[in-house]
Amino acid sequence: MGPKDLFDAAWAAMQKTHSPYSKFPVGASLRTDEGRVYSGCNIEVASYPEGWCAETTMLGNYVMGGGGKITEICVVAQKMSKCTPCGGCRQRLAEFAGPKTRLYLCDNTGIIEAITLEDIFPRGFDGETLK
Ligand code: THU
Repeated sequence: MGPKDLFDAAWAAMQKTHSPYSKFPVGASLRTDEGRVYSGCNIEVASYPEGWCAETTMLGNYVMGGGGKITEICVVAQKMSKCTPCGGCRQRLAEFAGPKTRLYLCDNTGIIEAITLEDIFPRGFDGETLK
């Protein structure tokens, strides 16, 4: 189920993981309403808390690539079926994606469930009033 090209992009990104400490590779991808696809892998460093998630790498690539409205997000972790974004990444994703943005959860064969961002991040902190 779901768009195979987005799964393929997340899977390809996961191959670039730098996760020698956790040995837990993760890949993430997104698509904008203009059809651009961005992806990222998790990147760890020897001082463990300084590493960051695949979704964060992906968002950096997305911002640098020009941004846009995010319509779909896909996350894959080869050692965990239906890996969902961590708490911090949920907040980061909510900065650029809407509550109805589709989030695809995967196993090693492809997308196996489609949910929305608001399913995993209800009543998140909204920065609108800070602007
Ligand atoms: N990780 C991600 O990249 N994304 C997630 O959604 C969950 C966790 C990474 C962070 C760390 O490099 C490794 O997985 C183990 O926590």
